[in-house]
Amino acid sequence: MRVAIVFDSATGTTRAAAEAMAELVRKAGHECTVTPVRDVDPESVSNADALCVGSWCKGLFFVRQRATEETMDFIDHLDDLDGKPVAVFCTYKTAVGRMLVEMAARLESRGAHVTGSFKSRGPQAAAGFGDWVESLQSAPANG
Ligand SMILES: Cc1cc2nc3c(=O)[nH]c(=O)nc-3n(C[C@H](O)[C@H](O)[C@H](O)COP(=O)(O)O)c2cc1C
Repeated sequence: MRVAIVFDSATGTTRAAAEAMAELVRKAGHECTVTPVRDVDPESVSNADALCVGSWCKGLFFVRQRATEETMDFIDHLDDLDGKPVAVFCTYKTAVGRMLVEMAARLESRGAHVTGSFKSRGPQAAAGFGDWVESLQSAPANG
């Protein structure tokens, strides 16, 4: 299965978490690309069987948390995801508010089937992400 991980990172934490998560995907026997939101080729997302989108948490630490504009802009420009399994994740320090819910809703508006939502307080893979990777075994491959 081909998995695309797309992330936005200002200071490297989300990038490192995305790379650690990609290692879990590859250890499970899948192909995995890891790409900053600004550099994503839309075709690579269309060709992937599953997608994972991550952003750092931007807000006032206890209120108004959201994904970055670049992340939401990336989502808004996706082709129809046609039921593709999608996970969202973020890195943060204190609290994430509704940012993951909002990312998931925006992805569902693009046709995604959001099957996972994860957060990490540092550069390590988000807790529970391994379970999402396992769930991909039963998802249909794309072409
Ligand atoms: C301007 C700014 C706003 C932030 N707002 C929040 C916040 O509202 N809640 C939170 O938990 N962390 C917040 N953080 C912390 C970052 O989300 C966290 O350090 C993240 O891991 C940084 O990811 P990066 O290294 O990939 O850029 C904020 C950081 C910055 C620089």
